[in-house]
Amino acid sequence: MPDTLARQNLRIHAVPRLKGEVHVPGDKSITHRALLLGALADGCSRIRGHLEGGDCLATMNCLRALGITIDQVSPPAGESSHELVIRGMGLRGWQEPGDVLDCGRSGTTMRLLAGLLAGQPFYSVLSGASQLRRRPMDRIVTPLRKMGARIEGRQFGRLPPLSISGSTLHGIEYVLPIASAQVKSCLLLAGLYAQGPTTVTEPGPSRDHTERMLHARGVVVTSHDLRHTLRGPVARLAPLDTTVPGDFSSAAYLLVGALLLPGSDLLLRNVGVNPTRTGLLDVLESMGASVALLDKRDEGGEPIADLLVRGQELSATQVGGRIVPRMIDEFPILALAATQAQGVTRVRDAAELRVKETDRIAAIVRGLRALGAHIQPRPDGFDVEGPTPLHGATVDCRRDHRIAMTLAIAGLLAEGETSIVGADCIADSFPGFEDGLHALTEGALR
Ligand code: S3P
Repeated sequence: MPDTLARQNLRIHAVPRLKGEVHVPGDKSITHRALLLGALADGCSRIRGHLEGGDCLATMNCLRALGITIDQVSPPAGESSHELVIRGMGLRGWQEPGDVLDCGRSGTTMRLLAGLLAGQPFYSVLSGASQLRRRPMDRIVTPLRKMGARIEGRQFGRLPPLSISGSTLHGIEYVLPIASAQVKSCLLLAGLYAQGPTTVTEPGPSRDHTERMLHARGVVVTSHDLRHTLRGPVARLAPLDTTVPGDFSSAAYLLVGALLLPGSDLLLRNVGVNPTRTGLLDVLESMGASVALLDKRDEGGEPIADLLVRGQELSATQVGGRIVPRMIDEFPILALAATQAQGVTRVRDAAELRVKETDRIAAIVRGLRALGAHIQPRPDGFDVEGPTPLHGATVDCRRDHRIAMTLAIAGLLAEGETSIVGADCIADSFPGFEDGLHALTEGALR
């Protein structure tokens, strides 16, 4: 995606409540993995409910450049979801791309693909938008080199673009310095091509969609608490036929919006509730909130449920330690919840937020302060004192979809108009966000 796309503003004003039923778009992390594993499978995979957001479109385009055919099939009568048909070429059937692979703003695309490309017998280059070219890649380059990969990047492998000359890999035993599902997944995917076991130990429980999806494709990943082992080389992957659950991280914005607006009554349908993703629910519970998980069931190896939430009063809490990776994308919206909670909420051990799409600690402090919040940055988190009435302002989301959506939900509580500059980036993970909000505010937002 070009960096030069017109920057659009989103204008929001206060509404009394969020009311109704909604399906949030498909899970971003699971969609990336379904696309990648579908492209590596022997035969056709079918995926429904996938995310058609910018980040996943970047993965799709990279796969097409690697020789994979991906078709969109119209839904059968009576069904609303398009189906993707991916013609997998097998673990060793990808073709050398004729040009640089453009990962857009998507860190997941770059880091997971790097693991797979390290084991291919050809040359490839991964690049993307300027925002992505500032994000650290040494976290994958260092362990991939230990596996025998020939991978280079700017500043001695610290920054993209990354160039990869495929080579023979061998398994390693690697202890992740930070909990990161992207790094864990990169190494396990490289492990598909490596001689011998690849073992990754993480300091905290990051999302486990890669392990679950590999398992469902017939690849054994043995996990003992935080230690995950895959024995390579793997000969083949079975194709998949799956429906992607709604993204908990997208649901989180509407869920917190409903909690903070008294009189709200919101049902979020078919949301993924994998425990490695739902740390926010535990934190909200510690703040006095109750969110009902209805009709818990399983889809393609992932737990899903309908979430029922009503407006409630919150009290402050402390967040740190092992829960952090289980809610790593939910800290901006937690910060907003904390502005309305009684007392001082303290977040620690979350320095990873500084190397996301933007420095999310700086961005959320700047954005919420502009709306009147009392929030202090810390090196590895922030402190928020509440409750504070918010007022509208013009705020820049720094082209970060999670900052943009947090500020949009803040705008629903704020007096006057809130204008979010560059909010078109919301489509990276939540296309249709604005229309969804309009529908849930019973026209009050127009
Ligand atoms: C993701 C993992 C997380 C998360 C990102 C998606 C994934 O990053 O922030 O939005 O799909 O694996 P880290 O694993 O680097 O924390």
